[in-house]
Amino acid sequence: MSTIANNSQKNSNQEMLIQVNNISKIFTSNWGKVQALQNLSFSCNRGEFVTIVGPSGCGKTTLLRIIAGLERQTTGEVLFNGSKVLGPGHDRAVVFQEPRLFPWLTVEQNIAFGIRDSRNKQKVKYLTDKSLDLVGLKDFRQAYPHELSGGMAQRVAIGRALAFEPAALLLDEPFSSLDVSTRARLQGELLELWHKTAKTIILVTHNITEALVLSQKTIIMSPAPGSVKEVLAIDLPYPREQNSPAFQEKKEYIHKNISYKH
Ligand SMILES: Nc1ncnc2c1ncn2[C@@H]1O[C@H](COP(=O)(O)OP(=O)(O)OP(=O)(O)O)[C@@H](O)[C@H]1O
Ligand SMILES: [Mg+2]
Repeated sequence: MSTIANNSQKNSNQEMLIQVNNISKIFTSNWGKVQALQNLSFSCNRGEFVTIVGPSGCGKTTLLRIIAGLERQTTGEVLFNGSKVLGPGHDRAVVFQEPRLFPWLTVEQNIAFGIRDSRNKQKVKYLTDKSLDLVGLKDFRQAYPHELSGGMAQRVAIGRALAFEPAALLLDEPFSSLDVSTRARLQGELLELWHKTAKTIILVTHNITEALVLSQKTIIMSPAPGSVKEVLAIDLPYPREQNSPAFQEKKEYIHKNISYKH
């Protein structure tokens, strides 16, 4: 059995970390109202790797931003570690589709940027080194963002998130702008990272194969306004065999169950 499989088994008995309770979100803008989410609920255990899949516009990013505390739900509540989420916090670090690095700072400085005011120098150095190591960029600490490939830049973004020592990593399509082979490599690295750190991970993706390669359960969302159509356990051993009948069966099942129309 692989070490990652051990990790996933170890996670299965742990307590609930994130509880999304019946949330709805209505955006009001100059041109009218949009209901992005409707009565959406799910939960996520500590150490669990969860993916969220669903058609474009079903509210995946909105949901992740609400869990991160970057957006406020209209009704309902999100509990993190038993407390209501009222705003952003270092216990939940977000990685977006694009790396959003500061171009004038080195890799090391980008990773240290968010933590340098709240930690002493020694701790900043320790956390930065640890993050650089986890994302495999020790040799590139002095590089600037324009000197990095897209995959490396996204690894810096993940490293920056890890430097906060968050309990949960919230990833919004972090690999979607990368080519197929870089994407596959980073998926493998993310699994390794999950194994090493036992972080709770929620990853939004359009890509069903990605959800099946990475997660222990996937939340299938219905089209806008988004709600949970199904929570599917992915009880396959890691590393996932993409050609196995069980993998293919789940893939077809999710394809059939994602509705792309209203
Ligand atoms: N700040 C905002 N103001 C108004 N409407 C918004 C805002 N953010 C999102 N929306 C609307 O909420 C709905 C859900 O958007 P969201 O970006 O969460 O979807 P998504 O599932 O992440 O889509 P995609 O897969 O294309 O990234 C859409 O109808 C969108 O137009
Ligand atoms: Mg989105």
